[in-house]
Amino acid sequence: MTTVTTITLSTFFIITTTILTFTKAHNITAILSPFPEYSQFNNYLTQTKLDDDINSHETITVLVLNNGIMSSLADKHPLSVIKAVLSLHILLDYYDNKKLHAISDGTTLSTTLYQTTGNAPGNVGFVNITDLKGGKVGFGSAVSGSKLDSSYTKSVKQIPYNISVLEISSPIIAPGILTAPAPSADVNITGLLEKAGCKTFVKLITDTGVLKVFQKAAGNGLTIFAPSDEAFKAAGTPDLSTLTSAELVALLEYHALGSYTPKGSLKTTKKPISTLATNAGGKYDLSVSTAGDSVTLVSGVGSSRLASTVLDSTPLCVFTVDNLLLPTELFGKAPSPAPDMSPESAPAPAPEMLAPEPAAPAPSPFLSPPAPPMESPASGPAPAEEPTADSQNSDASNDVNAVKAPLVYIALVSVLMSYVMI
Ligand SMILES: *[C@@H]1O[C@H](CO)[C@@H](O)[C@H](O)[C@H]1NC(C)=O
Ligand SMILES: *[C@@H]1O[C@H](CO)[C@@H](O)[C@H](O)[C@H]1NC(C)=O
Ligand SMILES: *[C@@H]1O[C@H](CO)[C@@H](O)[C@H](O)[C@H]1NC(C)=O
Ligand SMILES: *[C@@H]1O[C@H](CO)[C@@H](O)[C@H](O)[C@H]1NC(C)=O
Repeated sequence: MTTVTTITLSTFFIITTTILTFTKAHNITAILSPFPEYSQFNNYLTQTKLDDDINSHETITVLVLNNGIMSSLADKHPLSVIKAVLSLHILLDYYDNKKLHAISDGTTLSTTLYQTTGNAPGNVGFVNITDLKGGKVGFGSAVSGSKLDSSYTKSVKQIPYNISVLEISSPIIAPGILTAPAPSADVNITGLLEKAGCKTFVKLITDTGVLKVFQKAAGNGLTIFAPSDEAFKAAGTPDLSTLTSAELVALLEYHALGSYTPKGSLKTTKKPISTLATNAGGKYDLSVSTAGDSVTLVSGVGSSRLASTVLDSTPLCVFTVDNLLLPTELFGKAPSPAPDMSPESAPAPAPEMLAPEPAAPAPSPFLSPPAPPMESPASGPAPAEEPTADSQNSDASNDVNAVKAPLVYIALVSVLMSYVMI
């Protein structure tokens, strides 16, 4: 029974991974690239990383503005304001020409991406769409008293019912959105972090001078993962006083990326990402795993949930995390004291001795027809997936394997299905 449960769970895990890896809904950059009249809009979607947000939503409508309108907006405002405005032009619903003219009662409010940022009080994150008859459809902020002074001009592209791109005549502006202060380099990072409950982290970055590194990077793009004060007290947290000052600096710099990487971009991250510590020699990279709206950072030694967004304002992002991120470069791999890195030290290790135990079920046993026992991977026909040095290297290897072997998984699903049918 346990074996069956294990098989089922593992299979479910593999299938889920496969689906997550292969359901790439759409690519807004590619959709807009044949339209030179929206090149500016497209460009700003990339700069603000809103493209990642759009691509990660299965059902979405993008209200585009032509280059003339886009440049007059962009000339007057910092990137953080442009991002806020453009977020209001991304509707979390599907509207095409037909649906616009069939709105029940002729008027509706649609949720926008801006609503999901957490800084949209009242109706600021909603857009009012009203069928004005005579073929005209008006758009405006849903905040009461706002004018419907933008209108639908034409349909640009549809992939029903996933993504729709519509052109509108002028920007939709919610009250207050244009005057939000830009954060930029003069944001008080320590003040922000202290308020967010990260006093220990603030003291460490101040004492070591890492704060200066952060401040210097902040102007060009910086993302900070600040461990909460509780994280430093948690059981299993290593004693930081045993680190040399260079190691402590590397540990702190490991908690930041030298780029603006909001949550939407983390969610679409597949490969391990470099941190600020990466420059200090060694890999020091992080992997990201996503489940629904929740993002987990995986260091190799452990992992931590992304707890809250303290600030998301181009080019600076500040998050809190529940646990310290412990790089393998400083804290080694998990407890296993086993045969170390050099293959020579253990004369002839059978491949399964090298196999990492976590969540990497060798697919082979499933492929061989329902022979019940599955104790040793060596019993099935040798698959292409024999554990290698590679697969041991990083936690992201699951992903890589999933990409390598889609057919294996499809076959696997079929086998499982037929097994269930019997
Ligand atoms: C549309 O989204 C669904 C999931 O909601 C997905 O299964 C389908 O493949 C997508 N269609 C296209 C054309 O991308
Ligand atoms: C989307 O398309 C653009 C342009 O065609 C390409 O450069 C980019 O890599 C694509 N992004 C993804 C996530 O596939
Ligand atoms: C949209 O705006 C119009 C004009 O201000 C208003 O009459 C209508 O009630 C609004 N629609 C909704 C759903 O609030
Ligand atoms: C930043 O905030 C901290 C704590 O609120 C304060 O002590 C410090 O003086 C502020 N720094 C600047 C440059 O305003």
